[in-house]
Amino acid sequence: MKDFINGLPKVELHLHIEGSLEPELMFELAKRNQVQIPFQSPQEVHDAYQFHNLQSFLDIYYQGANVLIHEQDFFDLTWAYLLRCKEDNVVHTEIFFDPQTHTDRGIAFDTVVSGIHRALEEANKVLGISSKLIMCFLRHLDETAALATLEQAIPHKDKIIGVGLDSSEQGHPPEKFAKVFQKALNEGFLTVAHAGEEGPAQNIHDALSMLGITRIDHGIRCVEDEVLVAQLIEDRTPLTVCPLSNIKLKVFEKMEQHNIVDLLRKGMCVTINSDDPAYFGGYMNANFHAVANAHSMTKNEVAQFTLNGIEASFILDDEKARLVVLVDTYMMKG
Ligand code: HPA
Ligand code: ZN
Repeated sequence: MKDFINGLPKVELHLHIEGSLEPELMFELAKRNQVQIPFQSPQEVHDAYQFHNLQSFLDIYYQGANVLIHEQDFFDLTWAYLLRCKEDNVVHTEIFFDPQTHTDRGIAFDTVVSGIHRALEEANKVLGISSKLIMCFLRHLDETAALATLEQAIPHKDKIIGVGLDSSEQGHPPEKFAKVFQKALNEGFLTVAHAGEEGPAQNIHDALSMLGITRIDHGIRCVEDEVLVAQLIEDRTPLTVCPLSNIKLKVFEKMEQHNIVDLLRKGMCVTINSDDPAYFGGYMNANFHAVANAHSMTKNEVAQFTLNGIEASFILDDEKARLVVLVDTYMMKG
């Protein structure tokens, strides 16, 4: 199964680019930009990555992003992630970025977008990896700040396909952002949102009805509402699940208790993703291995995660068909 997973073409739909900042690159950028960080070595950073919930992670994660200053830093960050995609046979990726984490420190929106976009373009040419870019609003900030961020994104519509919602779910429900999401939809952006990670199933329901989302990020707490589960299955509403993240942030105690395989077998469009791989202990292959080690699955079931990812992606139908052929070919060989 290990070799089968490694060789399987994969699609990633839930990846925060700031969450792919490895301690080694954090150190290199801190030195290059003369930014102080509260660690003596990359090992010390690794050791600090012990979290008891989402907030304890976010506190460290926003601090790490302080080393990102110049366009080239955002390029280097994104390029390092894309090289990892290549290693893990990720053929398409839809990545998040958090502009407010940077603009609030005085970094220009254009600097962030153009560094990330340049790396994505380069990866398409050089590595054969296709991609989309999604901008997330930080839900611990207010809707006025999100509206101002949306205004900054409008001139970059050619590079940003959609908007999302991340950061602290508890105490910041979807309705807080109903207006800005409506405006984003009117501007032609697709919408997604983190919901039902630490927050209740009601947040999934509300994100669907109030924010017009086409995909739910995490969503694993949907199981607390049977009617919602039936609806998600019927509508094939995708869930971008992040198994290692859920263990690191104590959403589930053990991978054996994770509900992703159960949801897959119920016919839900669940996908496997890495969320913040530099912080949670692994990229795509590691997430697939962790699930497959804890839950016995057939090769067809494992491949279904990729097929779901293709179905849930924001690419055109002919591109989806091309990726399905890649998976089918791989299955026939294996
Ligand atoms: N949840 C909420 N916000 C985040 C996450 C997450 O898993 N990762 C980065 N920002
Ligand atoms: Zn996330």
